[in-house]
Amino acid sequence: SGELRKLLESRIRDVPDWPKPGVVFKDISPLLADPVAFAALVDALAERCAGRVDKVVGIEARGFILAAPVALRARAGFVPVRKAGKLPCATHAQSYELEYGSATLEVHQDAFGAGDRVLVIDDVLATGGTVEATIDLIRRAGAEVVGVEVLLELGFLDGRARLAPVLPDGVLESF
Ligand code: PRP
Ligand code: HPA
Repeated sequence: SGELRKLLESRIRDVPDWPKPGVVFKDISPLLADPVAFAALVDALAERCAGRVDKVVGIEARGFILAAPVALRARAGFVPVRKAGKLPCATHAQSYELEYGSATLEVHQDAFGAGDRVLVIDDVLATGGTVEATIDLIRRAGAEVVGVEVLLELGFLDGRARLAPVLPDGVLESF
């Protein structure tokens, strides 16, 4: 709703020139610190996916914070997609470019059951590289991406357009 969106927007702050000059960083710390706003966000995300998903994927690091409570509420399992070198068992790995650098993400090869329906959650969609790599990992692990939820889209970076070729209409949602 408009009310929820207004509440969430009011709890996200712009940090100029972080992590480097020219980048305006969207910081969700005030939202996480507000129990009313945090609960409203988690409830809304869980409502959108309840009964439709087997696993909720959180992308390191801020995606973990949102995805774990949503998974619990939706009675789905939680799966972490992590930066390279953090997961102990056999992984799939995918490299990608960031707004400010490049990185590799990994997921455990046995994280999903065959054909699991998966919801991906992250805080911010910027260039879309992170989500694109995550979708690739989930598919390589044998599961199906049925939803991608981000709190915020940085519209000027056009992550949505980048994801259009790999995601059916309606799969990507934000607030
Ligand atoms: C940020 C953000 C997203 C990603 C978005 O994470 O939380 O995961 O960048 O950027 P993109 O759409 O251009 O790929 P970051 O890489 O800063 O990692 P962190 O959460 O571990 O700090
Ligand atoms: N905030 C959080 N994560 C991000 C941002 C941002 O502004 N840009 C790219 N990833």
